[in-house]
Amino acid sequence: MTLTVLVLMMRYSRVSVGPDQPMYLASTAVFIAEIIKLCTCTGILAYNTQSIPRTIDIIRREIIGQPREILKMLIPSGLYALQNNLLYIALSNLEAATFQVTYQLKILSTAVFSVVMLNRRLTKQKWLSLCLLMLGVTLVQLQNVGTPKSPVVLDTKSDDGDSDFLNSSGVGDELDSSSSEDDSLVSQNPIIGLFAVLTSCISSGFAGCYFEKILKGSESDMWVRNLQLGISGSLFSFLAMFYDRQKIYEGGMFQGYSAITWCVITNQALGGLLVAIVVKYADNILKGFATSLSIIISGMISVYFFDFEPSIQFQLGTLVVILATVLYGRPDAAIPRFIRPQKK
Ligand code: C5P
Repeated sequence: MTLTVLVLMMRYSRVSVGPDQPMYLASTAVFIAEIIKLCTCTGILAYNTQSIPRTIDIIRREIIGQPREILKMLIPSGLYALQNNLLYIALSNLEAATFQVTYQLKILSTAVFSVVMLNRRLTKQKWLSLCLLMLGVTLVQLQNVGTPKSPVVLDTKSDDGDSDFLNSSGVGDELDSSSSEDDSLVSQNPIIGLFAVLTSCISSGFAGCYFEKILKGSESDMWVRNLQLGISGSLFSFLAMFYDRQKIYEGGMFQGYSAITWCVITNQALGGLLVAIVVKYADNILKGFATSLSIIISGMISVYFFDFEPSIQFQLGTLVVILATVLYGRPDAAIPRFIRPQKK
């Protein structure tokens, strides 16, 4: 649910720019999301300890006193900062449907990194179920993005006819809507979008497994780990804002922010913390299943509450996701007797 809503809101927030409204800067949105995560983690730590002095003591001992642990987090946080920025680029340059289909590749990249980095063994049955999951969630997502129709007319070229990397990159730049006669025309570059989404898939798999390894390889509190991740993440996203320094200097950090921008940012921040909880108590592969099932459940709830009409592809996708989940959870099929190694 969070993911679907986030994707649709993120894209809507990037393509629906009013005539006089500047586009908000994605780099500032990513930075603010990191700050919200830091504040939330500190709040949860204070709630858990029920004491401000003890919280300060934990922060002093485990955060300020452990710079090496923060250094360890530079890799996943740098990748997450890159990935969070790339998502804005992807959604500014691809149709939501194309994005949803290609973004599901992160299910496979996560599985590959789980095998390589976490020494997890995946049988053929599990690989098959992961492929089915990808297929099923793609079908389901296509319905979500297929209706209602995108309200904007999208153009793949900038006005002078050239594909302009800077004007279509999304991050650090306003989408080029002002130069067009029609304000709803937004320039897009699908190649950049595709590159961004594929890089995000690889980054998501690697960073997720790296974080899981750190989280499960020590006794440290999950919220302390998230604070360490958040500190280096804020640093990276702060540096990313330098790309936009001129615009920030001229229009301020919050230029173009609307209620929907704040919803996107909050959703991304809280969604990120939810990811951490799932990785702690389950793992990155199961997170893929949880996300897919939540999309379906939210679809089903919408049938009752919002008169949502599931299409054939949504229903088929739901069946495939359920099949994939059952297949993944089942003990591996017994090896037929005739190919079982014979005992001497
Ligand atoms: O798509 P994926 O599951 O890789 O997305 C992970 C998201 O969760 C990223 O936006 C990342 O910033 C966030 N995250 C987080 N805290 C963690 C792990 C991930 O905020 N501990």
